[in-house]
Amino acid sequence: MHQRRILVAVTGGIAAYKIPEVVRVFRRADQVVRCIMTSAATEFVTPLVLQTLTGEPVRTALLDPAEEGEIDHIDLADWAELLVVAPATANSLAKLAHGLADDLVSAVALATRAPVLVAPAMNVNMWNHPATRANLETLIERGVRIVGPGEGELACGWLGAGRMSEPAEIAAAAELLLASKSLADEVVLVTAGGTREPVDAVRFLGNRSSGKMGFAVAGEAARRGARVVLVAGPSAVETPPGVERVNVESALEMRDAVRSVWSEATVAIMAAAVADFRPAQALDRKIRKEDLAPDAGLTLELVRNPDILAEISKDRGSRIVVGFAAESHDVIDSAIRKLERKGCDLLVANDVSREASGFDSDTNAVIFVWPGGEIEELPTLPKTDVAAQLVDRVEKLREARR
Ligand SMILES: Cc1cc2nc3c(=O)[nH]c(=O)nc-3n(C[C@H](O)[C@H](O)[C@H](O)COP(=O)(O)O)c2cc1C
Repeated sequence: MHQRRILVAVTGGIAAYKIPEVVRVFRRADQVVRCIMTSAATEFVTPLVLQTLTGEPVRTALLDPAEEGEIDHIDLADWAELLVVAPATANSLAKLAHGLADDLVSAVALATRAPVLVAPAMNVNMWNHPATRANLETLIERGVRIVGPGEGELACGWLGAGRMSEPAEIAAAAELLLASKSLADEVVLVTAGGTREPVDAVRFLGNRSSGKMGFAVAGEAARRGARVVLVAGPSAVETPPGVERVNVESALEMRDAVRSVWSEATVAIMAAAVADFRPAQALDRKIRKEDLAPDAGLTLELVRNPDILAEISKDRGSRIVVGFAAESHDVIDSAIRKLERKGCDLLVANDVSREASGFDSDTNAVIFVWPGGEIEELPTLPKTDVAAQLVDRVEKLREARR
């Protein structure tokens, strides 16, 4: 994301002590950050800390001739490409919902035309109070985005909802709001992770796919404004912000989930490592070795799973379909053959035998294989960068179809 101007409005909740870290996350991502504070907020974190971390003066008062002389509050409101209110107190949420403008934060929030992201933080009973719920609904209806709050132990000693979201979550939500919405009209179906093919009640045949690549693709498409449905095999990776996740286990379940969103999808990116075979029979109880003859082995009969990518490619209509191929040898030749066999618009091949590439790695070295045999080889990149490159290609394909 290129450098953007983020105005962080800090209000007077205990979670204000975490705002220096929020600012640091934005600064690490090379954003320009300014802070404004309510008078209550200055009791929890000092303007000097935020001034030091942002490298910009911090304003705390509306009716102060000196502060207003430096940069007036309307200029601040106009300067912002995004206003982040964090933590947002119950009091400030109420002011924002009702359009009050009797302090710097509420006046700037009323004057800005930038998108507004709010990270509420308060005692669980304040959060659940009908007045707060109504204020929140008003803000949501008006297009204000809310991140959190999370649940857990609160500073006031109560347990429940009211914890401000972690700095990284606030930054991710901000990034989502700032990203260009080039895929706003698309419904992107992404599959990710490996499948588990049941052997008996406790065992399965699986593979080493972590889901990281597909999850990164889903996150990237969501950042660009697409509605994203992520059909995921078992994976420990967190669902990216703005993504609808459908959990599945086996290849057959994955096919059903893909089919159920197929009519709505305009793009399909099939990054899952789907098992080619499954046990012909999955016993609903555990196979015990005591039930077999002593020293006897066990032979599993495997049958073919449906080829989801080939099936949807055949039925793609005007949809864009991208496949993935994990190869351990003859990478390019087998990818070209696979692309021809499956009939998709683009195949992403990766050599899983290479270090820092493929399953479970945070980086990947991929080759884009195009119909007609054109090859684009990318260097080893973080999977998030590979995802961005891939989604760029999807946008180009969409452009070419128009
Ligand atoms: C120690 C302490 C912690 C507080 N924490 C919160 C909080 O987390 N959330 C909240 O909504 N209010 C909290 N308050 C109450 C606010 O500080 C108070 O409502 C204040 O008027 C908010 O002003 P502001 O919205 O202008 O910043 C706290 C008050 C005290 C004394």
